Amino acid sequence: MSSICESSSIVIFGASGDLTWRKLIPALYNNFKKGRLSTCANIVGFARREYSDDAFRTRLREGAAKFSPETFDVAVWEKFAVNIHYFQGDLDTAEDFPKLETFLRGLENAPANRLYYLATAPEYYAPIARHLGAAGMSRDEDVSSGLRQRRIIIEKPFGHDLASAQELNRAVHTTFDEKQIYRIDHYLGKETAQNILFFRFANTIFEPVWNRRYVSNIQISVSETVDVGNRAGYYDTAGVVRDMFQNHLFQLLSLVAMEPPASFSADAIRNEKVKVFDSIRPIALADTVRAQYDGYRATPNIAPDSQTPTYAALKLFVDNWRWKGVPFYLRSGKALQRKASEIIIEFQRPPHMMFHLPEGNDFTPNILSLCIQPDEGIHLRFEAKVPDSDQEMRSVDMDFHYRDSFVGKSIPEAYERLLLEALKGDASLFTRSDGIESSWRVIDPILQGWIEQNTPALVTYQRGTSGPTEADALLARAGHQWRLGCVE
Ligand code: BG6
Repeated sequence: MSSICESSSIVIFGASGDLTWRKLIPALYNNFKKGRLSTCANIVGFARREYSDDAFRTRLREGAAKFSPETFDVAVWEKFAVNIHYFQGDLDTAEDFPKLETFLRGLENAPANRLYYLATAPEYYAPIARHLGAAGMSRDEDVSSGLRQRRIIIEKPFGHDLASAQELNRAVHTTFDEKQIYRIDHYLGKETAQNILFFRFANTIFEPVWNRRYVSNIQISVSETVDVGNRAGYYDTAGVVRDMFQNHLFQLLSLVAMEPPASFSADAIRNEKVKVFDSIRPIALADTVRAQYDGYRATPNIAPDSQTPTYAALKLFVDNWRWKGVPFYLRSGKALQRKASEIIIEFQRPPHMMFHLPEGNDFTPNILSLCIQPDEGIHLRFEAKVPDSDQEMRSVDMDFHYRDSFVGKSIPEAYERLLLEALKGDASLFTRSDGIESSWRVIDPILQGWIEQNTPALVTYQRGTSGPTEADALLARAGHQWRLGCVE
């Protein structure tokens, strides 16, 4: 893609925060370096703190060098940084928005497309949308040479429950149309998550077995080694289900479970995702596990009697023709032994086993593993006859690793792709209002049930383990077990 000089502005609200210097600016810088960002796109940081343009650029430069060391190049940065500006403003002050408008018009050499990025605390999402609307900054602009678009990117968390998500949708919809709104879920920006649809629908051999006739169960695990760190204030009010399940795990679930979309367009894909969420049978509390790592309550800013789970596991069913009766097991937690995000498709046993298994040897079913991170790839485990044996079998692997198959092509950070897609106006990798609400509709009763019925009890797990044994029992009840298909 070649560099073009098309007047546009990217405005980051909450520009002095962590997200901006860790993720957003490195992502924009990398797009610029690859020639995918207009050479005259303005990047404007909006925050309360006092900064000169130069001081702001210096801080962002440190971030780009620190968080994107492999691609950082001073000469490229200097070219990129000329277009970075800082606007000191207060998110609570409506009058600062018309001032921002004047500031932007001064920078834009012609009517420009605008992308507003809300990298702020969630309580500011609705007020910012309202202030942008009141200042006449939210509507697309029809100029004789074409339409100048206004788009808004909203970070997670999008709501705290169904009611607050609906309220936020309503608030943002008063000033922005749905087609202008891009709700971020950074898991959708991961190459390996995007590859799920390519794997399923650009090949003929997997889709025929991708259903209840061949699949025994599906496991989606996102485990992290980090603990809550310095995010205690936020985390203790959220917990693992709001932080990871409602968004990231459910997005992975929808990609694995959805029907083939009619086309690769944003709405065709998102229609199918919503159908998956709407087909999820209400989850029984007995099919959930909630746990907290030992020592969590001793973290500064965490309530000493906190009931917030840092780990959860769920068993759910997607009640449709494809998946009826196939359990989906989802788990995620912090302070665990491994950092890994993976999806395991476990296939059914052969209908008749004619080989004789030696005493004590368990048969391993075929396992397809979609390894989202860290060792990105896809593995297929199947049975093979051990050479020079009579009937002995062993599981062997057929592995695809990105690092071996795409030598010289590094996997970009999720934000790089997401920002690019939003700038292009393609919302396929973003969540639609109905998708957000449908996923909350599934999650809400679990969170309420845990509080109102105190069932199941919150259990404790040790740091550095694979989580509570209750999560193993959840699968064992149906004769299943967690599989580690991405571990070499
Ligand atoms: C974020 C959560 O959305 O995702 C964090 O708020 C979590 O708590 C992070 O650590 C995990 O993302 P990744 O890309 O490291 O798997």
